[in-house]
Amino acid sequence: MKIKKAVFPAAGLGTRFLPATKASPKEMLPVVDKPIIQYVVEEAVRSGVDNVIMVTGRGKRAIEDHFDKSFELEYELERKGKLDLLKKIRKIAKLAYLSYVRQKEALGLGHAILVAKNLVDDEPFAVLLGDDLVYSKIPCLKQLINVYNKYKCSVLAVERVPREQIHSYGVIGGTHIEDNIYQVDELVEKPSPARAPSNLAIIGRYVLTPRIFKALEKTQPDQGGEIQLTNALKILKAKEPIYACEFVGKRYDAGDKLGFLQATVEYALRRPDLASKFKAYLKDLDVNLI
Ligand code: UTP
Repeated sequence: MKIKKAVFPAAGLGTRFLPATKASPKEMLPVVDKPIIQYVVEEAVRSGVDNVIMVTGRGKRAIEDHFDKSFELEYELERKGKLDLLKKIRKIAKLAYLSYVRQKEALGLGHAILVAKNLVDDEPFAVLLGDDLVYSKIPCLKQLINVYNKYKCSVLAVERVPREQIHSYGVIGGTHIEDNIYQVDELVEKPSPARAPSNLAIIGRYVLTPRIFKALEKTQPDQGGEIQLTNALKILKAKEPIYACEFVGKRYDAGDKLGFLQATVEYALRRPDLASKFKAYLKDLDVNLI
């Protein structure tokens, strides 16, 4: 079955970015001049998935407004003859077919996905987290879909991370199948380096079979009262195989301050309109003087 729908859990509180996220969604923080969430929706569309289900919550209206038509802005841009900008703005509202559903309480990533159950229905689907930006030639989600099309089972995006950072991730233990593909044997949420089955960490891109919803319904909340996706994946793995794809590309943890700054600098350096001046600025920057 073709992957047609993508769920975007965007109802988290973004505590790592307070106070910026007190009244604004972290998904709307700009990397250069585009909100993080737009990069990720564009990745889904480039992967052939343009049916987007956004899971939002209170205080997230700006996301809906961003992907909507903006009459006043378009009128003013047209009147002032700023036609390039007008074209750019109009494109955003036509990017994808968006539906919205609310997670009433931030009860975890797993719970946010469960909230989208009725909109996804009984078909395999993608999940993309706005926390992770991936810069790659072949979109990261497309790489997972290619694996799904071959093996017809859930696929997790994984990346090798340094041992000292492993405690921040869900980690897999796996059997190598081919090239960069593993069959998942073990899943551990936020392990200590000693307990980690490998240094392959799960990042914010998934292709999931609809059976995950049953697994999520069975998943008990953790000590913090949250339903963790990794725990549901463990239940799913007992019923059907799960694969992992070590994707090719560079990932930025944009939900974290340092990762966000790295993304901002590197995306700016890739922009033809900014690259040379920004590079010159960085070269001359004397950090000791700041
Ligand atoms: P995070 O673990 O990054 O949580 O969620 P967060 O609350 O957004 O951010 P911090 O850690 O407090 O700074 C990972 C993804 O899951 C979504 C988030 O929006 C993010 O895309 N999420 C998390 C939900 O949609 N609902 C939740 O209850 C929790």
